[in-house]
Amino acid sequence: MVEWLISAVPLFKALHIAGLSIWCAGLIALPLMLRHHDPAVSPEDYRIIRSGTHLTYTMVVTPAAVIAVIAGTWLIFLREVFVPWLFAKLFFVALLVVIHVWIGHSIVRIAEEPGEHRPPNPYLPLTGILLCALPILLLVLSKPDFGWIEFPDWLLEPRGGQLPFEVPSL
Ligand code: HEM
Repeated sequence: MVEWLISAVPLFKALHIAGLSIWCAGLIALPLMLRHHDPAVSPEDYRIIRSGTHLTYTMVVTPAAVIAVIAGTWLIFLREVFVPWLFAKLFFVALLVVIHVWIGHSIVRIAEEPGEHRPPNPYLPLTGILLCALPILLLVLSKPDFGWIEFPDWLLEPRGGQLPFEVPSL
């Protein structure tokens, strides 16, 4: 592995943590912002609230999620953590992505059906986010062994498959 890439691990980790902090904070803020999409307010206020959630989702929360995932993917290879706790963590990250898409879907429907679409009760997405983020943090900070789980051999051994092209050595 290239030396300078290894020494950049703290940088990738800082980027990862900055990205996921903004991502999770945004996922908590958006359902609370969506709650204020009340068609009873004046059209001008409604337009301001709607563009607020739209811009927060597209310009802040989604880019932060992309940065967190890209930096996290680099960390898998740089830190060589091909271990069960990481796979368990990725399961909860996948659920977090589903909630991210759900919130985005609600923002789009509010724009396309103004006054008709009612956003979800904020407690639902907020509970889902906490039920994903807390196990992720527990897994990543305690890095449990999971050695007691018996995995089948085909999951633990290289299968000898070859890429259909030559990989230049770094
Ligand atoms: C696809 C998404 C993600 C991937 C691929 C990923 C992968 C990784 C990897 C490989 C590490 C380094 C572990 C080590 O150095 O031993 C890491 C660190 C970390 N991740 Fe993620 N992660 C992702 C998303 C998240 C999310 C959503 C959270 C929190 C809600 C999170 C929280 C953390 C924290 C707190 C650390 C620092 C842990 C430490 O240095 O001890 N990650 N992540």
